[in-house]
Amino acid sequence: MTVQPSVLFVCLGNICRSPMAEGAMRVAAREVGLEIHIDSAGTGAWHVGNPPDSRAIATARAKGVDISGLRARQADPDDFARFTHIFALDSQNLADLRRLAPGGAAAELALLLDMVPGREGQAVADPYYGADDGFEETWRDVSSAAQALIARLKV
Ligand code: 4NP
Repeated sequence: MTVQPSVLFVCLGNICRSPMAEGAMRVAAREVGLEIHIDSAGTGAWHVGNPPDSRAIATARAKGVDISGLRARQADPDDFARFTHIFALDSQNLADLRRLAPGGAAAELALLLDMVPGREGQAVADPYYGADDGFEETWRDVSSAAQALIARLKV
């Protein structure tokens, strides 16, 4: 039996980078007719229940992707059983997820940009405290990661 892939994107607050990654991945999967479970979460709990940051919503909307309906949640140890792939947006997120992972967790855990040739080991920079153009850079990064992931998961 082949297990249907399911992908979770994790950043710190789940209001900027990971909901943008979720939106980019949903659109990329739809474009190729790939039906996979896609979600996002934060390692922190400050924004639980909140929609994405208005700048993240606006940037995605300008690319034709509506992420306004997403709501932040905190990553949970059960996520390691619910998802086949968990992608951290930066190395701190990755370290926090490693601490959260139950022993023997089956899910693949990696840095998101490890999926993009030439970007291995790099972080998707946190745009939260920066200028609006940081969100453009975030969108470019999560979109290229989504394309690389689709190529990997589409069999
Ligand atoms: P994210 O950005 O991790 O990409 O969602 C942040 C959102 C909120 C905070 C930090 C980063 N914060 O400190 O509240």
